[in-house]
Amino acid sequence: AAQDPAQGEKVFRKCAACHSVGEGAKSRVGPHLNDLFGRKAGTVDGFKYSAAMVAAGEGGIVWDERTLTQFLIKPRDLIKGTRMAFAGLRTSGDVANVLEYLKTFDKD
Ligand code: HEM
Repeated sequence: AAQDPAQGEKVFRKCAACHSVGEGAKSRVGPHLNDLFGRKAGTVDGFKYSAAMVAAGEGGIVWDERTLTQFLIKPRDLIKGTRMAFAGLRTSGDVANVLEYLKTFDKD
C-alpha cells in the first residue's frame, strides 16, 4: 500500500549508511533527518554541506512532500552539485513510504 511507514523503514535502510533519524540521531556522512518537514535546505547546525545545498536553502528550497520527492527521485536534478552520492529511489511508492516514515520523527 502507498504511504506505509513500516515499508518506509525498510526503504530507509538505503539511506541509513549515511543518515540517522530518531532520538539522539547525530549527523554522520549526511545530516540527521529529524524535524525535516518545513526545514530550510542545508541548515542543520554543525553539518558541513556543499555550497550547492546552502545556496538551495538560501534560494528558498524548504523540505516538504514536493521538494523531497523531487530530491529523492534524482538528487542532482533538484540540487545541481549536491554532495549526496545517491542515485535516487526508483519508485514513487518508495518515496511516499520513506517520507511517511520520516514524518514519524517530525515534532509537528
Ligand atoms: C542530504 C535524505 C541517502 C548523503 C540529504 C538531505 C535529505 C536527504 C533530505 C538534505 C538535508 C538537509 O538539507 O538538511 C536522504 C534519504 C536517503 C538519502 C531519504 C535515502 C533514500 C543518502 C545516502 C548518502 C547520503 C545513501 C551517502 C552515500 C547525504 C549527504 C547530504 C545529504 C552528504 C548533504 C548533501 C549536500 O550538502 O549537498 N539527504 N538521503 N544520503 N545526504 Fe542524503
